[in-house]
Amino acid sequence: MQSCLAGRYFNLAAFQAEQMVGFYIGEKAGPDFTLMDICVAPDFQGQGIAKQLLAAFIGYGEQHNAENLFLEVRETNTRAIALYEQAGFSEMSVRKDYYPSDDPAKNGHEDAILMGMTLLFGQLT
Ligand SMILES: CC(C)(COP(=O)(O)OP(=O)(O)OC[C@H]1O[C@@H](n2cnc3c(N)ncnc32)[C@H](O)[C@@H]1OP(=O)(O)O)[C@@H](O)C(=O)NCCC(=O)NCCS
Repeated sequence: MQSCLAGRYFNLAAFQAEQMVGFYIGEKAGPDFTLMDICVAPDFQGQGIAKQLLAAFIGYGEQHNAENLFLEVRETNTRAIALYEQAGFSEMSVRKDYYPSDDPAKNGHEDAILMGMTLLFGQLT
């Protein structure tokens, strides 16, 4: 965890009454910024906190000249997929058997959907 809080990693936490209720961790590699994780505590879900955290991740990319934003999500994580699509991410490809899975129907693995968003900037001349 500690190694995800410095260097090429960046993060933001959401607090309510001094309690951490959500966070994201991002990674920058050249012009490509990746959302490594985003999470909201169960009792605080459904209040728009992830939407604000994701908007902050996108804003961080915009402010730091990111060209592409990426993330991976379990194919069954419909909540997160809806969150990402609403923010403007779209499916780019599928990573087969990327995640371990307890679902017996899935033979121990689950596909990841790779989603991305391109940020385009130009200078007024
Ligand atoms: C996915 C997660 C981060 C969403 O957090 P949240 O704070 O509850 O989300 P928000 O309240 O900001 O909702 C934002 C959008 O997410 C989607 N969403 C949230 N809860 C949803 C649900 N129960 N069903 C469907 N879509 C849902 C919707 O698109 C929603 O926008 P809307 O309210 O305008 O419809 C949260 O459920 C979580 O922490 N899950 C466990 C960790 C996880 O799966 N992280 C993603 C890893 S890739």
